[in-house]
Amino acid sequence: MRILLLCHSFNSLSQRLFAALKARGHQLSVELDISDSVTEEACALFQPDVLIAPFLKRRIPESVWRSVLCLVVHPGPPGDRGPAALDWAVLEQTPQWGVTVLQANADFDAGPVWAHARFDMRPASKGSLYRSEVTEAALVAVLRAVQRLGDNDPPEAPAPTTVAVADAGSVGCTWRPAMPQTARRIDWLNHTTAEILARLRGADGQPGVQDELFGLPCHLFDAHPATGTALQALAGTAVGAVVAQRDGALLRRTVDGGVWIGQVRLARACGDESAFKLPATLAFAPEAATLPVWSVPLEREDDEWAELRYWEQGPAGARVGCLSFDFYNGAMSTEQCERLLAALKQAKQRDTRVLLLLGGRDFFSNGIHLNCIEAAAHRPDSSAADESWRNINAMNDVAQELISTTDRITVAVLRGNAGAGGVFLALAADEVWAHQGAVLNPHYRNMGNLYGSEYWTYLLPRRLGPERARELMRQRLPLLAADAQRMGLLDRCLDTSPAALERDVIPDALALALTYNLPERILQKQQVRAADEAIRPLADYRKEELSRMHRNFYGFDPSYHVARYHFVHKLPHAWTPRHLAVHRP
Ligand code: COA
Repeated sequence: MRILLLCHSFNSLSQRLFAALKARGHQLSVELDISDSVTEEACALFQPDVLIAPFLKRRIPESVWRSVLCLVVHPGPPGDRGPAALDWAVLEQTPQWGVTVLQANADFDAGPVWAHARFDMRPASKGSLYRSEVTEAALVAVLRAVQRLGDNDPPEAPAPTTVAVADAGSVGCTWRPAMPQTARRIDWLNHTTAEILARLRGADGQPGVQDELFGLPCHLFDAHPATGTALQALAGTAVGAVVAQRDGALLRRTVDGGVWIGQVRLARACGDESAFKLPATLAFAPEAATLPVWSVPLEREDDEWAELRYWEQGPAGARVGCLSFDFYNGAMSTEQCERLLAALKQAKQRDTRVLLLLGGRDFFSNGIHLNCIEAAAHRPDSSAADESWRNINAMNDVAQELISTTDRITVAVLRGNAGAGGVFLALAADEVWAHQGAVLNPHYRNMGNLYGSEYWTYLLPRRLGPERARELMRQRLPLLAADAQRMGLLDRCLDTSPAALERDVIPDALALALTYNLPERILQKQQVRAADEAIRPLADYRKEELSRMHRNFYGFDPSYHVARYHFVHKLPHAWTPRHLAVHRP
């Protein structure tokens, strides 16, 4: 089938559908939703059998849905309608939710239902649910809808107030409007921690909850309950007060506990240019400087929040170390890289045979922290170029530490997606394992033709050879884990869900640690590394990559700075990149 994806941006869900449909032999092209006339033109050029809209913020024009079958992916069960479906479900802590694929018509989310899928909700942010459960369910429903289309088995048109559901009878429609900030508002003096978390989670990644910190208007994101030592230390502090900091987050007292707030977007009205998300302690740097740091050890119970955690499994002599680094949105600032490097060095002191690098729950890593870099442009003592330089060097230090870990086997476990430098950081490990739904973007050029570093010029050709490495970087397309495994970029693609991956890899890691010939394998690894070093030292790869990056950051061509500004400020797309819109000559 010829399938045109129409989306507001080529986001994780759109990428997953794109890669999955392509893998099933369909012909895919993408158009970003820029204007009605651009969509009309895309249909005229591509002549699709079906247009699929995985992520739209506006309606599909009538001229288009009247001439082409248009299927919209709605993140709600059949009968649910409206633009804030998931926000309401998270806020109201609905136990089950779903995804519906319905046909676009004159009514919003009320066309014939082609397919739907359900899932259990989890106490997590809207963004996390979207990237995991919603994406999995959307894939099931879209594939089912495409199958029905292939079988020429369309659903019946619905009556005006009901939705015809092919395999679930008819259900009534519920229109839920966009969620106003008044519905999200937090009353810090009265709401419980659970109520506050539901509000913050229902608004994360966008639009956040409008609030105030230190008397300044801002939006709050990235909430975690205070537990363990933080909860004990909160006793005696004033309700509503911001009392401490940890890993860039601020701890605010609630009536029955406390909430860590990891990310903040200051209001433009504050006269601050940085009206985009930043780690809370960076957004409120002078205020945070007066707060105590309530740090926790790397090895601790898993219910106490902090970005980094280390634990071990298995018998003495065959132990497996697990290091997780759950950085918001997978973005790794200079300071986060430095903390990760210190944690990695600490983990290497331990007597383990296998070290698992578990990244974060939602993303393994997305490379350098573009928001923190953008913020540096507004600081008198720094610049975006200087911060980019510090950040890429800090990333490289982590990658180098990993490459030169030759006394045990390292495994990068992709629980979530990985992009740009985050993919190459994973390749710095000996093995890369992922769940079948992980999407990789192993390229840098989408960010203003960035050359990239993280030793990719060493790591990628050693897996793919020089020709295929160049081709992969040139294509700039998302890759499914299974495709990545087929081409040799990954070692294992586990048929498991993102939620179960962490649990499922442990037996395999323990088995690896117990392998009878592991010492020989480690010896062989040391020999290969020494031989590679003799042919061309790691320092040389780094120097060459960084000389190109220096030009990206400090040179005459401003493409990287422009692309980063657009990305961080979420400016609407003005055109669809040619590598996606293959229908354009
Ligand atoms: N720095 C800062 N924020 C980042 C980031 C980065 N490197 N990568 C992703 N994010 C943020 C996005 O701004 C978005 O923020 P939001 O929560 O405010 O909406 C969030 O992470 C999710 O990103 P999104 O683009 O919606 O996720 P996706 O899964 O659809 O797409 C990528 C993933 C990797 C393709 C895309 O995020 C991307 O291109 N990131 C930039 C990668 C990069 O160029 N890194 C620098 C070079 S190493």
